[in-house]
Amino acid sequence: MQVYLVGGAVRDRLLGHPYHEKDYVVVGATPQQMLAQGFQPVGKDFPVFLHPETKDEYALARTERKSGHGYHGFEFYTGASVTLEQDLIRRDLTINAMALDDDGTLYDPYGGQQDLAQRLLRHVSDAFAEDPLRVLRIARFAARYKALGFKVADETLQLMKQLAQSGELEALTPERVWKETSRALMEDHADEYFEVLRACGALKVLFPELDALYGVPQRPEYHPEIDCGIHTMMSLQQACRGNYSLDVRFAVLLHDLGKALTPKEELPRHIMHEQRGLQPVTEVCERMRVPTHTKQLALAVCKEHLKCHQALTLKPGTLWRLLQRLDVLRRPERVEAFIQACECDSRGRLGLENREYPQAQYVLDAMQVVRSIKAQDLPPDIQGPDIGEMLIEKRIKALSALKQAFELQQTI
Ligand code: CTP
Repeated sequence: MQVYLVGGAVRDRLLGHPYHEKDYVVVGATPQQMLAQGFQPVGKDFPVFLHPETKDEYALARTERKSGHGYHGFEFYTGASVTLEQDLIRRDLTINAMALDDDGTLYDPYGGQQDLAQRLLRHVSDAFAEDPLRVLRIARFAARYKALGFKVADETLQLMKQLAQSGELEALTPERVWKETSRALMEDHADEYFEVLRACGALKVLFPELDALYGVPQRPEYHPEIDCGIHTMMSLQQACRGNYSLDVRFAVLLHDLGKALTPKEELPRHIMHEQRGLQPVTEVCERMRVPTHTKQLALAVCKEHLKCHQALTLKPGTLWRLLQRLDVLRRPERVEAFIQACECDSRGRLGLENREYPQAQYVLDAMQVVRSIKAQDLPPDIQGPDIGEMLIEKRIKALSALKQAFELQQTI
């Protein structure tokens, strides 16, 4: 039997990009031989084994043929006679279809090295269409390697368009869509993922709520970039630039969904878009089955982002109620994430990318102030419901002092 390193590890090694996983393909072996050597079988669908010590994945060379709709509509053939070339031709991209043997010899039957040099994400063969998830994978690779200058090849984009139109994407499970999307969101150029999905028509299928933002105008005096879709992508770029968490990036992505629902006669104003956004944000989160904390932040940012922008002028009582709705006493980390997302929204505007956002420090200070006031600091004669009332009174008073100090500083 012969063993080859394949897939992402070969690609990233040639690119000088860090990689964490090693996948191997085994040619000329049977499952029985693998088991006899101590490999552990994994996965119901494919003949994949884990190395007894390194736990790296070893897959028997296989050919695949699609026999039905969706991800499970596969028949595969694996046998000792399947060649390396047959295994590689069914892979997604030429740059992912290279193999390296123990001696360091590179096998590149489908031009992967040339496409690496030309910075092209190009499919290997028509077998690409056998797995619709590849549309999302290619968009994710486009996001990951954007800084290196990679583009999707024209003929691959065509194929992705056909897949998006075919209805195949609808057969993807929410778990697989969220896995690709959450990984893409953590790339430095996450916006490219959504741009590529849009370019091939997949955004409309997977995230119609986001797709609907394109072509919707905003007031140019506030949003010189005008288009709501462009603003969303610019805000996401800011979240990447800040190296913010997945929850912040996802909340930024969804913060303005309500703008796609503004009645036409009200454009380019978007009064009430925060309230209108709550339903589509909920729908996206439920469809993708995102974790609860991810959904909660997305809803809070959608609902309250204007309040954060107005923080410097809010009355102390209003600021307190905002902080309370954000669960400031129990969830300070969520308030921090909320502030980060709002800052991305503010800077995600043409020409305003580097603008100061003093609201961020102000709301952080406000959070510290209200959190520092505790029940044990109250006089001992305060009892029962009076405790709660007095705490609120003290917190609002402290916010009032903070506001005055801030305003004084502004006048100096
Ligand atoms: N592969 C494929 N089609 C898929 C998934 C995987 O052709 N839908 C092939 C590709 O050759 C890929 C390899 O299996 O390179 C390993 O897949 P995976 O580990 O999922 O991805 P990587 O390419 O290693 O990329 P990443 O760095 O994102 O893990």
